Amino acid sequence: MAKSCSTSPTSTNLVLLILVAALWPLSTTTEALKPRITNIQFYMHDIVGGPNPTAVQVAGRLSNITSSDPIASSFGSIFVMDNPLTATPDINSTLMGRAQGLYAMSSQQNEFSLLMTLTYAFVSGPYNGSSFSVVGRNPVMNEVREMPIVGGTGIFRLARGYCLAKTHSMAGFDAVIGYNATLIH
Ligand SMILES: *[C@@H]1O[C@H](CO)[C@@H](O)[C@H](O)[C@H]1NC(C)=O
Ligand SMILES: *[C@@H]1O[C@H](CO)[C@@H](O)[C@H](O)[C@H]1NC(C)=O
Ligand SMILES: *[C@@H]1O[C@H](CO)[C@@H](O)[C@H](O)[C@H]1NC(C)=O
Ligand SMILES: *[C@@H]1O[C@H](CO)[C@@H](O)[C@H](O)[C@H]1NC(C)=O
Repeated sequence: MAKSCSTSPTSTNLVLLILVAALWPLSTTTEALKPRITNIQFYMHDIVGGPNPTAVQVAGRLSNITSSDPIASSFGSIFVMDNPLTATPDINSTLMGRAQGLYAMSSQQNEFSLLMTLTYAFVSGPYNGSSFSVVGRNPVMNEVREMPIVGGTGIFRLARGYCLAKTHSMAGFDAVIGYNATLIH
C-alpha cells in the first residue's frame, strides 16, 4: 500500500522541474510588476468667484454661508470643478495638470465636509498623460485633509495611495491648496 503511494526520486525531480518551469515566467512577471512609490507635490487653484470660476455649483441648495446655519444650509449642494494644478502656489507657474470632477457638500452638522470624486490628470512633466482618481471625505476646515487615491491610468494604472491637502492661502472663497500625493503603482 505504502509502496504504491510513494513517488520515485525520478518522478519527484520531474515534478519539481515542471513546477520550476511553470513558475519561471510568473516570477519574472512579478519582478516587472514590482510596485513603485511616487510622491508628487502640486498646488490646486479653486476659484469660485469672479468672471472665470473653476468650480461652479450645478445642483442642490444655493450655498449661503452667511446664513445662521451655514453647514446645514449648504448641505446637498453639488459642484463641478476643473481646477488647475501648478508646480508652485503661483497660478502662473508650470501647469502640471487639472483636477476635474464633482464634489458635494455632504455634512449636515458640526463641520463642513465634502465628498470628493475627482480625477487628477497630468498635462506636463514626467506624469504627462497619466491620472489618478480620488474618492473620499474632505473635512475642509481641518488643517490637513487626507483623501484616498483609489486608482489611476497610464503610469498610475492600478495605483492606490493617499493625498494630504493643506490650504496654502485664501482670497475671499478662492483657495490655493497644497497637495502631497503618495502613490503605490
Ligand atoms: C443669504 O442669507 C442672508 C442672511 O440670512 C439673506 O439675507 C440672503 O437673502 C440669503 N441669500 C440667499 C441667496 O439665500
Ligand atoms: C498671471 O498671469 C496673468 C496673465 O498674464 C496676469 O493677469 C496675472 O496677474 C498673473 N497672476 C499672478 C499672481 O502673477
Ligand atoms: C504632454 O503629452 C501630450 C500628448 O502626448 C503632448 O502633446 C504634449 O506636448 C505633452 N506636454 C508636455 C508639456 O510635455
Ligand atoms: C508636503 O510636503 C512638504 C515637503 O515635505 C511639506 O512642507 C508640507 O507641509 C507637506 N504638506 C502636507 C499637506 O502634508
